[in-house]
Amino acid sequence: MTLAIHGGTPVRATSWPEWPPPLDDAQRKLVTAVLESGRWGATQGGSTCTDLTEAFARRSGVAYGVAVGNATLGLFAALRGLGVGPGDEVIVPAYTFVASATAVLLAGATPVVADVDAGDLHLSARATEAAITPRTAAIMPVHLAGSPADMDALNAVAARHGLAVVEDAAQAHGAVYRDRPVGGLGDAGVYSFQASKAMTAGEGGLIVCRDEAVHEAVWSVCNLGRRLGGAWYGHPTVGWNLRLTEIQAALLLPWLDRLDEEIDRRNAFCAALERELATLPAPTRHDGATASSPAATRTGGATASSSMPTRTDGGGRPVTVVPQPPGTTRDSRHLLMLRLHVPVDRAFLLEAMAAEGVPLDGGYPPLGTLPALVEAGTRAEPCPAAEAASREVYWVRQSMLMDDPANAACVAEALAKVLSAR
Ligand SMILES: Cc1ncc(COP(=O)(O)O)c(C=O)c1O
Repeated sequence: MTLAIHGGTPVRATSWPEWPPPLDDAQRKLVTAVLESGRWGATQGGSTCTDLTEAFARRSGVAYGVAVGNATLGLFAALRGLGVGPGDEVIVPAYTFVASATAVLLAGATPVVADVDAGDLHLSARATEAAITPRTAAIMPVHLAGSPADMDALNAVAARHGLAVVEDAAQAHGAVYRDRPVGGLGDAGVYSFQASKAMTAGEGGLIVCRDEAVHEAVWSVCNLGRRLGGAWYGHPTVGWNLRLTEIQAALLLPWLDRLDEEIDRRNAFCAALERELATLPAPTRHDGATASSPAATRTGGATASSSMPTRTDGGGRPVTVVPQPPGTTRDSRHLLMLRLHVPVDRAFLLEAMAAEGVPLDGGYPPLGTLPALVEAGTRAEPCPAAEAASREVYWVRQSMLMDDPANAACVAEALAKVLSAR
């Protein structure tokens, strides 16, 4: 079989489902009604932001919510509302989107990057505890790729040290941890509605919380320092206008009715792909060795000696699905993370998979290595697990996971083809 990158036939010739999916009737109707009402802003008497906020808070198992312009600002507002600011440190995971840390900087605090669990790639409770200093004010678990972080372990660390917990649920709409929805498990949780997310209005975000006083403080941060129910031109604290528009809320509210169906669909694709990956043989290299044999394990271009450990932590499989953290009841499958257990040039793999019609993403660099964050004063603990993830982990996009599970086989087939051509 010829590799597509060298002119052969791609494994997948047809396109993948687009993201976002086409507007449905309920969205079209509500967006039109909002547009025609002229009440496009939440301060003009429209109720769609309120309906969305209440529905989302209910789904998150909490009493309160605040709709905002995006999740970066939502994380910032949650931190500010919880009293986090200059002089404080906030612990964030080493394998996450940059906004988890820049929201901390925006609040005037210092991000402290702690390593993730080597298996599931979520913030490690042990690394979090080791990173705590007298300045630590909060921790920010991230529900990465739609899998809930192990909140019991992280909340226990926070409780032992009197820290606030802000859940970054930007990627995890509809995810459930030990039968409880994410977002409502810490002091505040923040979702994103940016274009790539499981529910989107192009941009947008929503903060949920359990406590009335936290809600009032967060609402005030997002509403120019006003007091809820207070005078319009009374601004007892400093705040900003971080509000979502009614038009965005009209795209999002009907989405809640189909979110579970879409999560089920992605889970079915992931299950099918996991089964297909389990059948892949350890690939054979040009020298005839299998990838997990000593001859195929190379360091710096040299063949490793037989005493060197081979990379068979995939149980002899070349590719495995990154496992869910303990306590996962429902994974919302924003992305599927795959770990490769064979040495392969990343640029080659990404290019060759795209040429096969199965484009993958390379995922995050370790957060603490981003020069801009380092320059801004971010402190990074040693993060070997995140470093390994940045070398070995690839993502299958959400839009691909929306496809018919019968097509999962072509992802595995493309991987097998590309790995055999390394
Ligand atoms: C983990 C994580 N946190 C925060 C954000 C920021 O969200 P937004 O783009 O809505 O500001 C994103 C996504 O973009 C994200 O993936």
